[in-house]
Amino acid sequence: MSSRTVTVLGLGWMGAAIANTMIREGHGVTVWNRILEKSATFAGRAEIAPTVLAAVESSDVIFVCVVNYEASDEMLQTPDVTAALSGKTLVQFSSGTPERAREAGQWARLHDVSYLDCTMSGGPLQIGNNLGTFFYTGRQEVFDAWRDVITPLIGTSTYCGEELGYAAALDFARLGALTGVLTVLGNVVSLLQAEGVPLDEFVPALGFLSSGFLEGALRAMTADEYPSGSATLMTWRAWADQFVQSEHDVGIDPRVAELIRDCLALGIERGQGDDDIYALFSAFGPTQ
Ligand SMILES: NC(=O)c1ccc[n+]([C@@H]2O[C@H](COP(=O)([O-])OP(=O)(O)OC[C@H]3O[C@@H](n4cnc5c(N)ncnc54)[C@H](OP(=O)(O)O)[C@@H]3O)[C@@H](O)[C@H]2O)c1
Repeated sequence: MSSRTVTVLGLGWMGAAIANTMIREGHGVTVWNRILEKSATFAGRAEIAPTVLAAVESSDVIFVCVVNYEASDEMLQTPDVTAALSGKTLVQFSSGTPERAREAGQWARLHDVSYLDCTMSGGPLQIGNNLGTFFYTGRQEVFDAWRDVITPLIGTSTYCGEELGYAAALDFARLGALTGVLTVLGNVVSLLQAEGVPLDEFVPALGFLSSGFLEGALRAMTADEYPSGSATLMTWRAWADQFVQSEHDVGIDPRVAELIRDCLALGIERGQGDDDIYALFSAFGPTQ
């Protein structure tokens, strides 16, 4: 692979790891960071650009890895930087919503910037270490043109197609599920502790968190006719009142339990009271 010129804007945990990997791969790297001290750690290994404009002018591909799209827009959407980006490739590594990814793609098209949006499933320790996955969206020919350069950044580089919001949506679903499960576990462990039930008693009861069960539940929720004949939402809703009360009784913050109760109530409000809990999926759908 021939060496290319790469600019990295943003040298936080992730941006610095990306820049270090590009240096290790032998590319000509230019870096810029809002707080200058972070750029200084690259002295002698990369060009340190004094401005965003100079950084963009230095390379054919520009990697942006800052806190969010707002910070990225602030840097890039000025007349001189936008003009300098024209004809180049911009890879957006900052986290954002699917809608922000689509807006960024529109802006890039308007200004003749080749654009890839990357959702990073992996942290700074995975970058450059053949671990983790990055999901890319954008035009296939742009991904192909830079595939050799971006591949060493992470264990697996997955191209997800042209729909720019796709990877961000996948990531929200993944991290939403992860944080949701961990939040509920944090809550119920408090209940166990308050009631003096040892964790060892609880762990074997978590068999339903197996991927087989979860996949079956997802398919059941999204089936044209979800399964029924088990406990109804009305039954679950009545149970949830007791769940909330059990946390009140021992002084635990009941907001997680109340949220579960309220979500079950939402399904009933939407006419699903006699259906199984899988009906909750349609309760969360957009109202017409
Ligand atoms: N860390 C992870 O494990 C991880 C995993 C997946 C995705 N991500 C995403 O990767 C992105 C970077 O995360 P990180 O962990 O590297 O964060 P970080 O260490 O906090 O770095 C944030 C970077 O954003 C810059 N920044 C913030 N506001 C700015 C502004 N208004 N203008 C210009 N630059 C600005 C900071 O510049 P200063 O140094 O000047 O403040 C810094 O370079 C985020 O979108 C994050 O969600 C992170």
